[in-house]
Amino acid sequence: MQAALEEVNAQEKLTTRFDVDRIRGDFPILKQRVHGRPLVYLDSAATSQKPQVVIDAITNYYATQNANVHRGVHYLSQLATREYEDARVRIQRFINAAETHEIIYTRGATESINLVAQSYGRKFVHEGDEIIISAMEHHSNIVPWQMLCDGQRAKLRVIPIDDNGELLIEEFARMLNRRVKMVAVTHISNALGTINPVKRIIELAHSQDIPVLLDGAQAAPHLKVDVRDLDCDFYAFSGHKMCGPTGIGVLYGKSHWLESMPPVMGGGDMISSVTFEKTTYNTLPYKFEAGTPNIEGAVGLGAAVDYLNGVGLDRIATYEHELLDYATEVIGAIPGVKIIGTAREKASVLSFTVEDIHPHDIGTILDQEGIAVRAGHHCAQPVMKRFDVPATARASLAFYNTKEEIDAMAAGIQKAIEVFA
Ligand SMILES: Cc1ncc(COP(=O)(O)O)c(C=O)c1O
Repeated sequence: MQAALEEVNAQEKLTTRFDVDRIRGDFPILKQRVHGRPLVYLDSAATSQKPQVVIDAITNYYATQNANVHRGVHYLSQLATREYEDARVRIQRFINAAETHEIIYTRGATESINLVAQSYGRKFVHEGDEIIISAMEHHSNIVPWQMLCDGQRAKLRVIPIDDNGELLIEEFARMLNRRVKMVAVTHISNALGTINPVKRIIELAHSQDIPVLLDGAQAAPHLKVDVRDLDCDFYAFSGHKMCGPTGIGVLYGKSHWLESMPPVMGGGDMISSVTFEKTTYNTLPYKFEAGTPNIEGAVGLGAAVDYLNGVGLDRIATYEHELLDYATEVIGAIPGVKIIGTAREKASVLSFTVEDIHPHDIGTILDQEGIAVRAGHHCAQPVMKRFDVPATARASLAFYNTKEEIDAMAAGIQKAIEVFA
């Protein structure tokens, strides 16, 4: 009976009209005008905007709770420690990790991936071993592995993608062998919007005992992530792309991996005892959190997670999907526009080129209309090379965007076409 009621409630929550006007009211920056026009913010893949509750949580932390964590017996230090650790528990639940100590605070997805490459990599990757990434990775999930491979004389191998921007899974299956020591792929591509079949990738890799790291920078803000259901070994994401502050992110790792990995940074808090002869390291997660951490960042990220849970990740995904379909139709219908990235499963990213107009010019003209899109290689130069374009314009959507904003972008693109005709 209880289960049936919960199911009905969940269904109701999903089908209740998504009140985007009310959502927009939560984000003070969206009230701004830019160049005399209402701001149309379509650059959330670069960084999302922040709701007032997150801004308030940070202000409140500094106004009433600020002290260093884990170090003091005094009231404020205990309060700050509690806030910092409470946020970790909320993040653990947000991604359904089994243990709180599997949540390591980092500066963001980049640092999380570097941590695994340096720590796991130096211990488990040796000469002649292989690391597999994909052709649609952000530079953050390429360069750390390249650096590792250079140092260890290992080989970096790349899963190819097709013309729609989908991974060639059969090809990937053929690449697996006993020399492969890590598969590191993005959950959602920031340049193409492709949602990768990560469960299948993990099953295939695990069938040969190879661990998998998922770069979740673009997924955590847009769909419900369940690391236990995925069964990934590591999951990396950034707070600032999911309504939280900059400078805070998360590395999730399965306990047994994190236990077996050495720390990469030494300093305060990551030790259990220090003498000049020998240092022993702290337990998880502190072994990987040297020095005074980004306390306000953790508090802000905790508030962001609460906020996203309040809106509901399933509702966010459904609404954004509708918005992306609409944008694909409207922008794709403009003569001269070519959409880059046409995978069957996509989320929130619309990359495109316009015939005879450089993406930077598109970006500049849209900016004059108050519309923020990104133009460039999106830190994914190999993707640009694969599609034989120097750059793309990219509109990236969030649940606070509207169809009217997509229409404004379409009008802006038409204007650019007239200007350059
Ligand atoms: C797919 C992907 N991975 C990693 C990153 C790096 O994130 P950060 O710069 O927050 O560390 C980004 C940022 O755009 C991204 O889109």
